[in-house]
Formats: sequence, structure tokens, C-alpha cells
Amino acid sequence: MADLDDVKEKISELRTQLDHHNYRYYVLDSPEISDAEYDRLMRELGKLEADYPQFLTPDSPTQRVGAAPVEAFGVVDHPLPLLSLGNVFSQEELTAWYARTVKLAGGKQLSFVAEHKIDGLAVALTYVDGRLATGATRGDGLRGEDITQNLRTIRSIPLAVSGKEAPPRFEVRGEVFLPREGFRKLNREREAVGLALFANPRNAAAGSVRQLDPRITAQRPLDIYIYMLGYAEGKTTPDTHWETMAYLGSLGFKINPHNRKLGSIKEVEDYYQGWVEQKAGLPYEADGIVVKVDSLELQGRLGYVGREPRWAIAYKFPAVQGTTQLKEIGISVGRTGTLNPYAILEPVSVGGVTIKQAALHNEDDIRRKDIREGDTVIIQRAGEVIPEVVGPVASKRSGQEKEFSLLEKVFDKDKGRPACPVCGGEIVRPEGEVMYYCSNAACPAQAQQRLEHFASRGAMDIRGIGESQSAMLLREGLVKDVADLYSLRKEQLAKRERAGEKSAANLIKTIEDSKKRPLARLIFALGIRHVGAEMAEVLARRFGSLDGLASAS
Ligand code: IVH
Repeated sequence: MADLDDVKEKISELRTQLDHHNYRYYVLDSPEISDAEYDRLMRELGKLEADYPQFLTPDSPTQRVGAAPVEAFGVVDHPLPLLSLGNVFSQEELTAWYARTVKLAGGKQLSFVAEHKIDGLAVALTYVDGRLATGATRGDGLRGEDITQNLRTIRSIPLAVSGKEAPPRFEVRGEVFLPREGFRKLNREREAVGLALFANPRNAAAGSVRQLDPRITAQRPLDIYIYMLGYAEGKTTPDTHWETMAYLGSLGFKINPHNRKLGSIKEVEDYYQGWVEQKAGLPYEADGIVVKVDSLELQGRLGYVGREPRWAIAYKFPAVQGTTQLKEIGISVGRTGTLNPYAILEPVSVGGVTIKQAALHNEDDIRRKDIREGDTVIIQRAGEVIPEVVGPVASKRSGQEKEFSLLEKVFDKDKGRPACPVCGGEIVRPEGEVMYYCSNAACPAQAQQRLEHFASRGAMDIRGIGESQSAMLLREGLVKDVADLYSLRKEQLAKRERAGEKSAANLIKTIEDSKKRPLARLIFALGIRHVGAEMAEVLARRFGSLDGLASAS
């Protein structure tokens, strides 16, 4: 057995090396070694920690893959409340804010720092003796949730900072976000396995850091920019915001390279206008800029009104909106039988993307916004996925517009009642729910989507059963529900035109293989209302078997 002191020494050396390369790669975006070499170091450390678990610590670079799941998040008190920001939307409003601020500052010439206002979520990171001790959400500003384990998985958050230069205890604040590319990738993956899409990068980031299982967070390509030093104890820190950011950068924190120190409000306006033009080219979504008074002494004197500092303001970018005609409201039938209204639009280009359809959530929402067929409507791309209808332009009405009633829309004259547009089944609206449902469990639209969902990648992962195969199996009467998949025989499949012996055998084999999927996947695959992938994990862990779950009260 090796000398324990040597092992400890080697572990410490590997960690220092890995922390350094991690910093070069994720914070500076300028790696010094190849990915393969990095992986080799990581494996070497992982092996040592596995062999000598007494030396494993939560701030080891190996722990970025995510610790064990928790039942619920703990609560963290913020010693210094996390505040929000006041907004301005125009040059006039910015100028008015500036005038007020100068007056309060006693008429002095002011310096500012302008930064991007990234659309993610605020976190507070506390370091004690150079190590990341706690990471918390903003919560209500006074108390947040303890998401330390999840934040440890974000590569651009240092797990340890150089002890000599850092205050013994301090807190930094920043914005955790999902870059556009990572957001698109995540949604593509979710779509492939039939999961609900995130509406925008902010929701995706918030959903990712609030996972009870840090291993899920670890798979999301989250990033962070630090935008503020909360407090520091035991060491003097710089007396301007600009220098504080440079100092935090030197400690290893990721600071946005687009931050600028500006000497006048004219320069602030130019910075803003420049980014209104160029923001589409940024790798992340920003909804405006934040303007901060540079002098921390002056910040202290200006103080707060309510929950907003007087020394900073958010100057919002104009939203990406467009107007077009709502030709008709269509209805699609979802996997659980929901009748989903959607807007069929006169195609319109909004921020460079042609939009033909937009989400309309449910009848109540359509009525509340008073959206009518034939209306000129305002369309907005929130984030960049499914655009939504913000509301009608009432002044453009001709009087020909038609108010929306879902039951009228799906009214079947022959049957003399509202009917599912796909199968003619009866429509129900369960007490207390906003959605209408097709009550026919055998509705082909539902059956097909259930089958597709069951076989999808995040569920039972049966390659070869996609949209067209599901439709074929149902049409030919080979299966009526997912259970029938498991009694399919090769001969039945091979009889089908175009389907040869070989592909039939392959399909039977993949179906057979799917029996090995873990319980959580099966529960998810069943497509129970309100049971997504994460809830399925929780249920599998709690009940252990399908019988256990079925007999729960
Ligand atoms: S400073 C007291 N700087 O915007 C001032 N906030 O509405 C605290 N945000 O919850 C905020 N980018 O999460 C600041 N460069 C930036 C920011 C930023 C995004 C978020 C922050 C906060 C919200 C305020």
C-alpha cells in the first residue's frame, strides 16, 4: 500500500492542476492542454479518490458531475438582501434617472459601469477560507434555497479561490444562464423524447439549477457571470465597482468581457444603442443593460428605495414583436387527450424568423386576452421557441372578428354535440381544469402519441418505433396499446410490405431489450398526466415497483 501522505500529496497536486485547466477552459476560454489530457488527469484523480475515499472532498473537481439527489432544498438566509432593479425603457427615462441620481449625489460628475442584463437567475455564492461553502437562489431576497450541490456542477464557478488574496469570508453574486446554443440543444433533446419544451433560456436555467438531482444539473451546459461583490470580511477590497470586478476576475471568477466603464450618460446611451443592434449576435440572451454608479462609497450614500437600489437601473431592450392577422384558431389533440388551441397566422417575419403558428394556451387565456379569429394580433418571440400571441390590436377590428368558443369550434353537426376533431369522441372538461379533453381513451391521435412517447428515447427507447411505425402498427391492428408491443411476433411484422425478415427481427429484439429499462423510465413511458421524467424518478425511488406504486393510496 502506498504511503498515505504521498497519496494525499498527489491528490492535492492533481486538483490544483485540474482547477487551473478548468479555469483556462471555462472562464478564460483559452485552454492549455487537450481535452484528452484533461480527461486523463480527471480519471487519475477519480481513481485515487475511489481507492482512498477518506481524501474525497466536495470541492474536488471530480465532484462537478453531481452529488447524490436530495429530497428538498434547505433554506439559506441572505445576510445582505438580494434586491431587484428599477427599469427604464427609453432615453428620456434614462436621462430622468441620471438627473435624479446626480442631484442626490450633490451635483457631482458621475462615472458608471454598464453591463449586459443577462436573462438567467441570480445566485449568491459564499466562500469561506477560500472554498465555496454555500450557493443559494435569490428566493424572496431575504431567504433563498440552498442549491450548493447543483452550483458545484457549473464549471465556471470556482470551487476554491486562491486563499492568500481572497477575504476569509465573502459573498459574490452573479447570473447563472444557459447560452443560446445549449438551450437549443437541450430543447432538441427534450423534443426527441417527447418532453415539454422550455419556453426560453431563463426558464431552462431556472429549471436546471432547481433539480433535486445534481446529476441532471451537471448535464446542462450552464454558465455564470459574476456581477457584484455582496460583502467581504477580513480584507479590504477595492472602492469602485469596476475595480472590484477586476479583482474578482483575478480571484478566478468569470466576469463579462463586455462590461464597460463609462464617463457620461451619453456614453451609456451609445453603449445601449450599440447592443440593441448587436445583441442577436451574443451567445446568450440579454434583455437590456444594467447601469451602475461606479463609486461604492456613493452607492452606499444613494442607498435603496424599497427593494430597488438608487445607484443602479436596468435599461431594457425593446421586445421582439410583430403584428399579423390571426386567420383561424386550430385545435390539436395531445397525448393525454387535451384539446390544444393554436393560432394559425398570416406568415410574418419577427426578428428574422418567419412565424406561421403561435401558442394559445387554453380557452380561458384566449378569452381573458380577448383574442378573436380575424383579429390583427401582436406576436412575441419570448426567448426563441414557440412564439406567443400577446393580444389583439383592438383598434384594427372591422367587426367581422369572431369570438372563440372551443366547444363551438369542435361542434359536430351530425352528432349534434361537440366532438373530438380526430375521433369524434365526447369532450369533457374536468372540474377545476382549464383544458378540455377527448374522453375516448382509444382516440387514434392519443393512441399514436402514447405509443410514440412510450418508445421515445427518454422513455423505453425502442428505436424503430417513431411516428410512421406507430401509425402503421395501429392502422394494421397489430397493436392497440403499448402492452401489445410485447406480444408482437416476427412473422406478423415481416408480412408487412417493405418490412423484411431482418428489420422485423431487429424490431423484436429492441422491444425485448426495452424490458431492461429501469422502473423510472417505465413509469415515465406510461405517460400519466402530471408525471414527467423527474416525477417518475421520485415515484420509482419511493415505491420500488409498479405494483408498489399501483397499490399506493
Ligand atoms: S445587479 C442591486 N447586474 O437582474 C442590484 N443584475 O432585476 C442587483 N441581472 O435579479 C443586480 N444581469 O439577477 C445586476 N449585470 C447585472 C445583471 C443583473 C442580470 C439580474 C439579476 C437581478 C435582476 C434585477
